[in-house]
Amino acid sequence: MKIEKVGVVGCGLMGHGIVQIAAQGGHEVIALDLDSGALDKGIARIEKSLAKLASKAVEKGRQSEEEAQAWVRDVRARITPSTDIESLRDRDLVVEAIVENLEIKKKLFAELGEKVQAEGILASNTSSFPIGEMAEASGRPSRFVGLHFFNPVQLMRLVEVVRTEATDEDVFAAARAFGEACGKTPVACKDTPGFIVNRLLVPYMVEAIEMLDRGDASKEDIDTAMQLGCGYPMGPLTLTDYVGLDTTLFILEGWTERYPDEPAFRVPASLRQKVNEGKLGRKTGEGYYSWQGDKKS
Ligand SMILES: NC(=O)c1ccc[n+]([C@@H]2O[C@H](COP(=O)([O-])OP(=O)(O)OC[C@H]3O[C@@H](n4cnc5c(N)ncnc54)[C@H](O)[C@@H]3O)[C@@H](O)[C@H]2O)c1
Repeated sequence: MKIEKVGVVGCGLMGHGIVQIAAQGGHEVIALDLDSGALDKGIARIEKSLAKLASKAVEKGRQSEEEAQAWVRDVRARITPSTDIESLRDRDLVVEAIVENLEIKKKLFAELGEKVQAEGILASNTSSFPIGEMAEASGRPSRFVGLHFFNPVQLMRLVEVVRTEATDEDVFAAARAFGEACGKTPVACKDTPGFIVNRLLVPYMVEAIEMLDRGDASKEDIDTAMQLGCGYPMGPLTLTDYVGLDTTLFILEGWTERYPDEPAFRVPASLRQKVNEGKLGRKTGEGYYSWQGDKKS
């Protein structure tokens, strides 16, 4: 099965990026959001990003000005904004990138399961919920996968393709091929908490926070150690500030509730306290560091 017609539900931070890379990959894409303001904003971000890519291609001599402009027009022409779920009926694939709330996602998938053509594949971009639960809610678990892209979608090269016990082999293969057509490198994951990346990354962030809380080392030294000792682009505490302390706490609380016996899943005291104080990381100007734009202290 070849995926040609794509729908993306949710045109926020992740959704607009998925719309863009799918269109760049040659797919015909419907970008859907229930909030028309959010939809307009998402489309504007795509247009800005395409213009930037085009001017870079000209600058580097890869394309002439006319070729670059024609490319932007072609990609943009493949994107149709919509606020009507009925427009998704004929889609080969619908990727969900709405708010991280399981009940709202399940409700959406029940509706998509009824409306999208029977052969259509449904996918969720969730970072923390079990794919199997949404697959069940959709009424078509064999045609359901996780497609977990990374932020910023246009730049990050990975997509985790998640299959449940019920996912058909051809559905999984088609989802993988879609990821490749979007210019990403797919990795296969089972439906386990955090898939591959977050299952390794979040407990690592927890260890770093607890190391700081115990006073074993300063935040600067913990970060420098992982940057220079392991070659990571940023240390774990800087990373936590970038991800957002609220997002990190949300993921951890979901996991500790679902998997109370897993010792790697626990909430460090300072994380909860800072979130209670509204210190959510870079976006609020304070987390484990104080931030002024990109400068931290
Ligand atoms: N932010 C990240 O770094 C990141 C990374 C990977 C995966 N994710 C996952 O991607 C998903 C989206 O996250 P985001 O950061 O883009 O959120 P966001 O808040 O930026 O965007 C969500 C969009 O969905 C729309 N929406 C909400 N409910 C809807 C509905 N029922 N129908 C249609 N549109 C609806 C909202 O209007 C909003 O525009 C979440 O599941 C999140 O866990 C996020």
